[in-house]
Amino acid sequence: MPGDKSIAHRAVLMAALAKGTSLICGVPDGDDVARSAQAVQMLGAEVSPLSGGVQVHGGRDRLFEPCDVLDMGNSGTGMRLLAGIAAALPWLSVLSGDRSLRSRPMARVVEPLREMGAHIDGRRNGDNAPLVVRGGNLKGIYYRPPQASAQVKSAVLLAGLSAQGDTTVEEKVPTRAHTEELLERFGAKVRVEPELSSMHLGGRRVTVSPSELHPVELTVPGDPSQAAYWVVAGCLIPHSEVTVKGVYSGPCRNGFLDVLERMGADLKVRSDQSGTLDITSRFGPITGTTVYEQEVPALIDEVPVLAVAAAMAHGDTSFHGLGELRVKESDRLNTIAELISSLGGRAEVVGDDLVVSGSAGEPLTGGPVDSHGDHRIAMAAAVGGLAATGKTVIRSWESVDTSYPSFAQDMSRLLQ
Ligand code: S3P
Repeated sequence: MPGDKSIAHRAVLMAALAKGTSLICGVPDGDDVARSAQAVQMLGAEVSPLSGGVQVHGGRDRLFEPCDVLDMGNSGTGMRLLAGIAAALPWLSVLSGDRSLRSRPMARVVEPLREMGAHIDGRRNGDNAPLVVRGGNLKGIYYRPPQASAQVKSAVLLAGLSAQGDTTVEEKVPTRAHTEELLERFGAKVRVEPELSSMHLGGRRVTVSPSELHPVELTVPGDPSQAAYWVVAGCLIPHSEVTVKGVYSGPCRNGFLDVLERMGADLKVRSDQSGTLDITSRFGPITGTTVYEQEVPALIDEVPVLAVAAAMAHGDTSFHGLGELRVKESDRLNTIAELISSLGGRAEVVGDDLVVSGSAGEPLTGGPVDSHGDHRIAMAAAVGGLAATGKTVIRSWESVDTSYPSFAQDMSRLLQ
């Protein structure tokens, strides 16, 4: 599996702040993480490619005011996390991106960062990029994000590294924990309550104190969001058995496995010595289920491919509380419903819910699909298309280059 995109972004950004040389292996090839690497280079970190990874010479004393716009391409994670870092840097940074990224909401990070003392402006009073950030002189805050968002939590915590006093983010529903896990790895003073290892399902509080980061050597584990395409393909395509190896296992990233298990999918999940997962899926009948709002942060990026699975299940599947999908790389709530109809299935958006009617195991017809420039719609369409009787042609396929450029190649290998 390609290395996890969320972890790789954070590792590159934190390595730029850590004084010394970090080695990060298993960095995925896509454009998104490359944008974070390019941004930290423009800020003065030295980033050199290694086979399968990067070496970063970082440290706050190396960084300087960037002489051009930090262009984050299509990457919401890149822009929001970098906004947290730029908020703490005592100069002007301008963050922009492609047309999709420039239309995505940024007030969710801009508001808490302003509360910490950063001066940030942008289009629509700072809700849309380009964002102009004059950072420095921050004070710690206690913040309760109104939406369940790991990106918001991360931006605030990264800014908190250089703030005066402690910075706490309290989440009603926990989101992926890569920032707190990696901050600890990079030597920051970070406290998580209740601890990440506890089985607690309610809210969580993460506090960071002003800290210097130390360089690390780490290998990014495989990306569960990318693994999900192959796991679902194994479930839907007659006579298949697919194994994905080395997949990250941790809080709020493996929810798709719970849902597929509830659907009765034939799955075997083994944890290896390093704590990563090997997952085998086999073709077999699956049934519809209900996905509850509290589960959504743990499978937020896997909804498109889970919806494809649901379209072939026995019975209907309801996904509740998908409002956040409206502000992803596309209006993903609607583009998923359109994807399922284009493949010959049935799906309906009801408020913030998505209801997918199962075909009772009958293959879909396939058909022309518009990815709307959204990599996850394109890859979910490819999985649905593989399991369909007719031809599926995917418009704007090149969007997969943001996260998984070798997806088509890997798919051909699977079919040999
Ligand atoms: C991400 C968090 C999620 C996810 C995105 C990556 C991250 O976004 O959809 O692809 O790396 O923190 P939100 O936290 O904003 O929901």
